[in-house]
Amino acid sequence: MNLLKKLCETPGIAGYEERIQKVIKEELEKVTDEVKIDKLGNVIGIKKAKKLSGKPAPKKVMIAAHMDEIGFMVSFIDKEGFIRFAPVGGFDPKTLIAQRVVVHGTKDIGGVIGTKPIHILSEEERKKLPKIKDLFIDVGMKKEKVSKIVRPGDFVTLDRNFMELDNKIITAKALDDRAGVYVMIEALKRIKDCYVDIYAVATVQEEVGCRGAIVSSFSVEPDVGIALDVTIASDIPGTKEEEVATSLGGGTAISLMDSHTISNKKLVDFLRKIAEENKIKYQTDILLGGGTDAGAMQRNKSGVPACTLSIPTRYIHSVVEMCHKEDIENSIKLIYKFLENAHKGEF
Ligand code: CO
Ligand code: ZN
Repeated sequence: MNLLKKLCETPGIAGYEERIQKVIKEELEKVTDEVKIDKLGNVIGIKKAKKLSGKPAPKKVMIAAHMDEIGFMVSFIDKEGFIRFAPVGGFDPKTLIAQRVVVHGTKDIGGVIGTKPIHILSEEERKKLPKIKDLFIDVGMKKEKVSKIVRPGDFVTLDRNFMELDNKIITAKALDDRAGVYVMIEALKRIKDCYVDIYAVATVQEEVGCRGAIVSSFSVEPDVGIALDVTIASDIPGTKEEEVATSLGGGTAISLMDSHTISNKKLVDFLRKIAEENKIKYQTDILLGGGTDAGAMQRNKSGVPACTLSIPTRYIHSVVEMCHKEDIENSIKLIYKFLENAHKGEF
C-alpha cells in the first residue's frame, strides 16, 4: 500500500503529469523489459512474450490506466491576491468548498478554497448552489507576493493525505485513477509466464477526453485492450438497491457497458471464465454516466476488442474517494491471470 499512497499523493493533473509520470516510469522500469515515453507524455512499458515454437507472432495486449487526476489551472490573480481558476476535469462544486489545495507555482504553496461564513450569508445566498466560477483560492498572501510565485497557467491540486480506515478501507484523493495504475504495476510484478506482448500504458489526459489513450493506442496498435479504472460504488444512503452499480468489497468489477464503450462480449466472457476458474470475486458493472480509456482503444484504427476492469470506488472525483483493499487485490489477480492466459483467448 506504500506505493499506492505515493501514487495518490503525487500531484499531476491532465497536461501537467511530469511528477507522477516520473514515479510511474521508475516503477514500470522494474517490471517491464522496456519503457518509452511518447510526445504527449504517456508512459509505455513493454513486457515481451515468451516464444512458443511453431506459433505465429504473439498478440499485443494493451492495458491502460490513466495517471492524470482532476485539478485546476490558475486563470487570474485579483488585486487582493485571491486566485481564480479553471477546472481541468469534471468537478462537483459542492465538494470544493473549504478544501485545502496546493498551487504549483515556481514552488508549491498551500492554499484554501474560501467561502463566506454562514453568519453573514443572506437567506438567498444560503439556498444557492456554488458555481466554480465564483470560487477562489486564498494563499494568505497579497497580490505582490503571490504574483512572484504564481502565474496564469500554473496548476493546482487538491491536498489530502492517504488514510486507512478499519484495516480494509482506504480513502484518498486521486484514487481515480492511481488505484488503476497501482493494479497495473502490481499485476506485472506477479506474472510468471506470459505468451502475449504486454503494453502497459499509464495514459495522460484521460479526465479531459481520453486524449493519451487515443495516441498511445495509435502507436501500440493493440490486438486487444483493457482499461483499468475506477467505477462508481453507489452502495451509500440514498441509492435504491436496483440502482447500485457496484458495491465496496463486492469484488473487482467487469464493465459490461459505459457511455463510451459496449464491452466486447467475448472478452467479457473470457474474463468471467478466468475469474470463476481462479475463484476471484467479481461483480459486473453498467455505468451510463462516464467512460474510460477503453473507448479510445476500441475505436483505434480498424477496431479493437476492449473492455474495462474497474475498482469500485465511493465518492469519485472528490478528495475522499474510497476503495476496499480486497477489491484492489481481486483486480490485480484477475488482470494478471488474464495476461498469463490471454494467448488462449479468441477475441
Ligand atoms: Co475520473
Ligand atoms: Zn478514471
